[in-house]
Amino acid sequence: MIIYYNKIGNKRGKVVFYKKQNIAAEYPFISDNQPKRRRLAERCFAKNKMKNKKGEIVQKRFTVAIIGCGSRGGETYGRLMFNEKDKFFITAVCDHNPEKLKKYGDVFEVPSSRRYLDETEFFKERRADVLVIATMDNDHVRQCIRALELGYDILLEKPITKDEKECRLLLEAYRKYKKKVVVCHVLRYAPAYVKAKEILDSKICGDLVMIDSIEQVCYWHQAHSFVRGNWRNSTESSPMILQKCCHDLDLLQYYACGKCVTISSIGDLKHFRKECKPEGAASRCLQCKFVKSCTYSAESIYVGNWKSIGMPDNAWPYNAITPEYPLTEEAIRKAIEIGPYGRCVYECDNDVVDHQIVTMTFDNGIKANLRMTAFTAGGGRIMRFYCTDGQIDLQDVGENLIVRRFNKPEEIVNVNDVAAEGGHNHGGGDGGLLRDFYKVLISDEASPTSLEASLESHLMAIRAEQSRKLGGELLKIH
Ligand SMILES: NC(=O)c1ccc[n+]([C@@H]2O[C@H](COP(=O)([O-])OP(=O)(O)OC[C@H]3O[C@@H](n4cnc5c(N)ncnc54)[C@H](O)[C@@H]3O)[C@@H](O)[C@H]2O)c1
Repeated sequence: MIIYYNKIGNKRGKVVFYKKQNIAAEYPFISDNQPKRRRLAERCFAKNKMKNKKGEIVQKRFTVAIIGCGSRGGETYGRLMFNEKDKFFITAVCDHNPEKLKKYGDVFEVPSSRRYLDETEFFKERRADVLVIATMDNDHVRQCIRALELGYDILLEKPITKDEKECRLLLEAYRKYKKKVVVCHVLRYAPAYVKAKEILDSKICGDLVMIDSIEQVCYWHQAHSFVRGNWRNSTESSPMILQKCCHDLDLLQYYACGKCVTISSIGDLKHFRKECKPEGAASRCLQCKFVKSCTYSAESIYVGNWKSIGMPDNAWPYNAITPEYPLTEEAIRKAIEIGPYGRCVYECDNDVVDHQIVTMTFDNGIKANLRMTAFTAGGGRIMRFYCTDGQIDLQDVGENLIVRRFNKPEEIVNVNDVAAEGGHNHGGGDGGLLRDFYKVLISDEASPTSLEASLESHLMAIRAEQSRKLGGELLKIH
């Protein structure tokens, strides 16, 4: 935490001691009726200036408020921002879960007067320069519009919304208040995907004709997030093709360099249903006779896997099922004994699909397909770009892209040079996104994942879901 010292005078105006105070945390909220304090804050804040690329004097460090201190808001962006103190300074947190609020309030050293349990109280006034919105899918638009009204620049988690009308409402507010909104399409900043774009743009494989992509959700991730967890139910959260695959759809339209004109989709929930429950299985794993043998046993997914990776103090998905830090076997067991993550996967209130196929045509004639499946041993995405003079293979769990120019030797392109600056999760995408967000804050450069740029993939997802419900009907996007 950055601490400034204030001189305090006695009755005769003589300086007698220094009092510690966190003036940066007060900026920019000191009112005019506290002139001394305001002058001090201004002096401290004067150190918070720098020249940008155009030679303009701009703000260097931004105060940050976070609403939604979970895996993304607390564990990912919060921690990354907290470690970049010369750029970001977390001054307020809001979460309606008291345990999460305490955990991340403590981690980010936020004074208790700036921790908010209630969204309404939090949104009474602006609490910082920047707001990170990382609550659940259906809260994003309401909170983003209020944040725009209050004058925040915003880092907004995806999905923006599942509702087309809300897309328009938010866009109107964004144009009216003219603040910066960057959407967390983190893969755009991940090294493998950045490199693929460079190779495509270089045209060494000729013109792009078609893209084939697979989203491998992984069997236990499906069970964790989309059967037992937050995203299991499309009414409570959003459809799978939006919540999980808006990244993929965003990447496809980005690589295709065109607007998607038509889309069709098929998909179902095949496996995680009551009919597939083994005879005699219990409703909760720890009471079930199949606890040692079931593929989706919560004991093996949480306790077993956590042990197999060396029982880390803090790691996803274990930290998503218990607020306990450091993690312990006892806390994980308790979470699966009483919490939602210990339920039988065949007896949850889930309705999102476990496999789905989408086909797309873009206005420049490029075609693409996306296959999302829960039934993979590992996670990660695979993309294959078919071009007139060669193909490019991308597998985001690896460190290489393979360029196969026709009649030429295969080339392995290492993405580590880009990865070195990436850091953290999503193949370096989370760190890359924050670097871009900061660049946007200190300049008038548009973000590649600005609100306007990001709405296209959301419209594609909304149409894909409509098509799926209509049994695969071909639909126009606009
Ligand atoms: N960019 C990505 O790749 C990516 C990855 C995973 C999740 N997400 C998205 O990020 C968002 C958050 O996901 P998460 O995994 O962090 O979930 P999470 O459940 O771990 O965190 C959400 C937090 O928000 C809090 N919250 C919810 N509603 C609130 C409200 N009205 N006021 C205050 N606090 C509230 C919850 O208590 C929780 O702590 C979701 O929309 C999700 O779809 C994005």
